[in-house]
Amino acid sequence: MQDTQYGTQDASFRAAGGEEGLRRLVDAFYDEMQRLAEARRILEMHPADLEESRDKLSRFLCGWLGGPRRYQERYGSITLPSAHGHLDIGESERDAWLRCMFLAVEAQPYTEDFKEYLLKQLFVPAERIRRVCADRLGSREGSGA
Ligand code: HEM
Repeated sequence: MQDTQYGTQDASFRAAGGEEGLRRLVDAFYDEMQRLAEARRILEMHPADLEESRDKLSRFLCGWLGGPRRYQERYGSITLPSAHGHLDIGESERDAWLRCMFLAVEAQPYTEDFKEYLLKQLFVPAERIRRVCADRLGSREGSGA
């Protein structure tokens, strides 16, 4: 099957199992983050109680995959770079985040096609966030030199 099919309307949202499926994915994602030693640094960037983080990410993914914009309904507008601008995210933090997501996606009853598509799509904002953080850190270092 083609990647393009998933990017159309709410096809990806449906392939992910809708709101319930996305909450299961995000629960598995944060469970991995709590379990994996390599994710400890990114876990520590989160509030101690992960309930709101679970709610925010599953709602965000809903709209991001073409479903209803649940994040905005509860939390208002968001852009990913500014939501992460205060964090120090380099390659290892990006990769730890993607590793948790890889394991979480693997545990879902999705088709192999959709798993591959979703992980490829998630790399794009993860890398954009890393670049924005690198630019911020770079300009901070630059100004002190
Ligand atoms: C690049 C690796 C990433 C890391 C290390 C990371 C880490 C974090 C952390 C630590 C928070 C909590 C911030 C706080 O409470 O102050 C957060 C929030 C959030 N992240 Fe990420 N994140 C990453 C990538 C992504 C991606 C790719 C997405 C979406 C596809 C995403 C979506 C969100 C959302 C929606 C929130 C809630 C923002 C808010 O309402 O404040 N993150 N992330």
